[in-house]
This record gives sequence, structure tokens and C-alpha cells, in this order.
Amino acid sequence: MADTATDELKTLEVQAMEELKACADEATLRAWNTKYFGDKGLIKAALGKLGTIAKDQRAAYGQEANRVKVALTAAYDTALAEAKETALQASLTANPLDVSLPGRGRPRGRLHPATQILRQIYTIFADLGFQVYRTREVETDELNFEFLNMPAHHPARDMWDTFFTTTPGVVLRTHTSPGQIHVMREAAGKPIRVILPGMCYRNEAISTRSEIQFYQVEGLVIGEGVTMADLKGTITAFARRMFGPERQVRIRSSYFPFTEPSIEVDIDWPADDPNRDRLTKGTGWLEILGAGMVHPNVLRAGGYDPDKVTGFAFGMGPQRMLMLKHAIDDIRLFWQNDLRFLRQF
Ligand code: DAH
Repeated sequence: MADTATDELKTLEVQAMEELKACADEATLRAWNTKYFGDKGLIKAALGKLGTIAKDQRAAYGQEANRVKVALTAAYDTALAEAKETALQASLTANPLDVSLPGRGRPRGRLHPATQILRQIYTIFADLGFQVYRTREVETDELNFEFLNMPAHHPARDMWDTFFTTTPGVVLRTHTSPGQIHVMREAAGKPIRVILPGMCYRNEAISTRSEIQFYQVEGLVIGEGVTMADLKGTITAFARRMFGPERQVRIRSSYFPFTEPSIEVDIDWPADDPNRDRLTKGTGWLEILGAGMVHPNVLRAGGYDPDKVTGFAFGMGPQRMLMLKHAIDDIRLFWQNDLRFLRQF
């Protein structure tokens, strides 16, 4: 009985090998594999017979069944690899591949120009010893206005018409200045030297120079004996590095409720640019920032004693700076996402 069974195994092996040799391609090979090694395959059936073999022959039968299985599997793997190689060669001959054709390039992204200039600003201020501090874009009316010395009905609020949320007293910040209060409260009396970059929002008539959404970079320095000379020195050093020594910096006196005294800083528009008059309203200058000595009320709102420390602050427009650097004639280009514009940077 066992001998017959072992013989059957040999016959099965011979038959399987012959059929395998006759397989012409991958599809027939796979059919062969199912016939012998599938769930209902002949090899599986042969192995399943083990239980019916007499005990003393069982080991011998098992070994033989296993040998056949291993031999057939190896033969199949080789045949399949050969069939694939043959098919590949055939397809290469049939559809010759021109390996000298250049590959298809992958489109490469790049940083948005606003991100690029923000990073330049961070680098310059990092060299001047400033840290970067981020605060929220949604603020309370209290932080956006009141703590910055603009109580309700203060006429200066008209300069910053804002977007209100459905929660009373919560607005989209109109400037990064409320961040000053956050920093002061967190620093809790220690000296401060930070910049606060971020997005701001204003309910404005959109024009070539202003949008409802724009970046600002706020600066705040607080300590004993900080003066207007420090402010002017810092801003001038910044402008020289950002715009180069050939561009001019103009400092004018101005007014902001949260600084006293207050200044505004302009850079001269490139002289050879035909859009100069239109973009600078005929003056030749474009404002890049407002600044001043932090008002005592603001220091108090942040928990600092104006009798002990002084400070300066500024708020700059990175997109204005981009316009000045590259003579860009329309601030709206930044968020239109027209690749013809963005690819130039
Ligand atoms: N927050 C002002 C604005 O958005 C800019 C500004 C002016 C910021 C003077 C300051 C400052 O910190 O001291 O127009």
C-alpha cells in the first residue's frame, strides 16, 4: 500500500515536470501552479493522504512527498522567472526603448516670496539678538485695541477697521501689536527683545497698496534705559541689510496711540522704475513701518513699571518691502497664486 502510494508520488512528479516543460508563458505556468499547488491541488491532496498510510511507512512517504513538493516548487520558480525574462526581451524587441530620451522632470516647488522675505527678516533680527515669538490671529477687542491705549470710541480705531467674529468682542487682529501684550505678560518683568511675525486682517478697500490680508512683523524691546536712539539704530541697521547701502531710509515723526513719540520709516522707490510716481503717490517714498517708544499705558497693561523701564516697538510690512526690493507694482499679486508671478522669486 505504502509502496504504491510512493510510486504514485513519483508518477505525479514526472507528469507534473512534463506539463511544466510544456508551459509556454506566464499564464499557462500560473494555471499549472494552481493545478498542483492550489488549495485543491494535486500536491496538497498527496500530502493530505499521509494519515491513510500505514504507520511504519508514513515517515518514508512523508519525506518523499516533501521532496517532490520542493523539487516542483523550485522547477516552477525557475520556469516562471525564465518566462518573465523571455516576455520582457520580447517586449523590448517589439517596442524598442529609447534610453537616450531624457526623463520627465518633476516640477519643483519653492518658497512663496512672502515666506522668503519673512525668513530674511528673521535672519537679520536674529543677528541683532531678537527672538521670534508667535501669537494668535484671533484676538479680543481688549488686546487689539484697549490695552494698546485705544479705548472704545477712540478715533484712532478708524485706522483699523476690522473683521468681527460672531462672538462679541472677538476680532481678527488688525495688526501684530496685541502680541506685545502677550509677550510682556509672559516675560513677567524680564527684559524683552523679540519680533512677532504673523498674518493680519483689515476691512479695507482693496488697492494696489493694500489688501484685507497681509503679513506684519512686530518688534518689541523693553529694558532699563532703552531709548529712541536704540530704535533708530536698530531700524537703520535692519534697513541697510535688507535693502543695501545704496537705498535711502527716511524717518518721519508720526502718531500711534500705543507709542509716544511715534515715527514712520520710508524707503526710496527704485529711481529708474516707471511706476515710481504712481506707487509712491508722487513722493518717491514707500512706508515700510511704524514705530515709537512704548506708551506708559501699554507698559502698564503688560505688567511693566514705566518708571523703571522703557521700550521701543515697531510694526513692519514685509510685503511692502518685497514691492520695494523688486519694484512690484501691485500688492494683490501675492495672494492671487498666479505662477507666472510667483516663479520669478
Ligand atoms: N500696529 C501699527 C499698524 O498696524 C504699526 C505699528 C506702529 C506698530 C507703531 C508698532 C508701533 O509697534 O510702535 O499700523
